[in-house]
Amino acid sequence: MPVPVILDCDPGHDDAFNILLAAAHPSIELLAITTVAGNQTLAKTTLNARRVCSAAGIRGVPVAAGRDRPLHGPRRVAEDIHGGSGLDGPRFGQEEPDVPLDPRGALTLLRDILLTHPTPVTLVPTGPLTNVAAFLLAYPELAGRIERIVLMGGSTGRGNTTPAAEFNILCDPEAADIVFRSGRPVTMFGLNATHQVRATPEVVARIAALGTPLSALCVDLLTYFASTYREVFGFDAPPLHDPLTVAHLIDPSLTELVRAAVTVELAGTYTRGATVVDLHGVTGRPADTEVAVHVDAEGFWRLIVEAVRVLGDGAGPR
Ligand code: BDR
Ligand code: CA
Repeated sequence: MPVPVILDCDPGHDDAFNILLAAAHPSIELLAITTVAGNQTLAKTTLNARRVCSAAGIRGVPVAAGRDRPLHGPRRVAEDIHGGSGLDGPRFGQEEPDVPLDPRGALTLLRDILLTHPTPVTLVPTGPLTNVAAFLLAYPELAGRIERIVLMGGSTGRGNTTPAAEFNILCDPEAADIVFRSGRPVTMFGLNATHQVRATPEVVARIAALGTPLSALCVDLLTYFASTYREVFGFDAPPLHDPLTVAHLIDPSLTELVRAAVTVELAGTYTRGATVVDLHGVTGRPADTEVAVHVDAEGFWRLIVEAVRVLGDGAGPR
């Protein structure tokens, strides 16, 4: 049986590839895409999600907009990494994407799906955790309908937005705290894992060789992403963080997970938004979170290239 999944995202170059992977692979039943402010404003991340779906022929998957700001604290975007549109690189043109916006909004859509889907659903957040936290606060009685939460965020080591904090967690630390303490099973793909999957020129060449309009768009995305990661972090090739979440659901053998207590720093003068991961059990806190520590990068890229191939054939998802 395919895994029923809702993506909650802020596209974002790597979020875009997660949408493609989830839509393309027969092991995933993509029930909905909800958007959140993060890499860019909510209006832009929502437009980008619809643009990606349009370009890839992903139709019939509802797309709904969620929160436009964190539960607490200032709004921030990652324009230095994802550009002014949040998805710089490809030329999308001015026309409206043909994939509509679901008028219900993210929280209502989540509620409707969790109430009606025959089995519990896996949430895959790859942006700030605002929508998920807001949902848990609004509908605590539906928490049990969430099978697990497989998220990209945090790190077992240092951050990428401050020395201590990763972008998604720093955008809304209070939301992240609610999610990690929700009691639902959480699997965390942090920077320590996602930095193991770099879109090298060899990977980009494999995607280019597919020779479809979608593969050309993906090459444009990765080329832009590579340029900002080179400029900002001095990386030779950019890490494609977010799709490790769905890749894990497709093939758990690609990732080595360990169990650890994860605490979100809410107060630190220099460390707000850090994920404090107790890998050695020194705090005595329950090791209740699964934390990705090692990734089969080649297996991951095989899935990504195959997803672009399947969708690029023009047949649409599966
Ligand atoms: C995370 O931040 C965003 O810029 C990416 O889309 C990813 O979800 C990496 O820190
Ligand atoms: Ca993201």
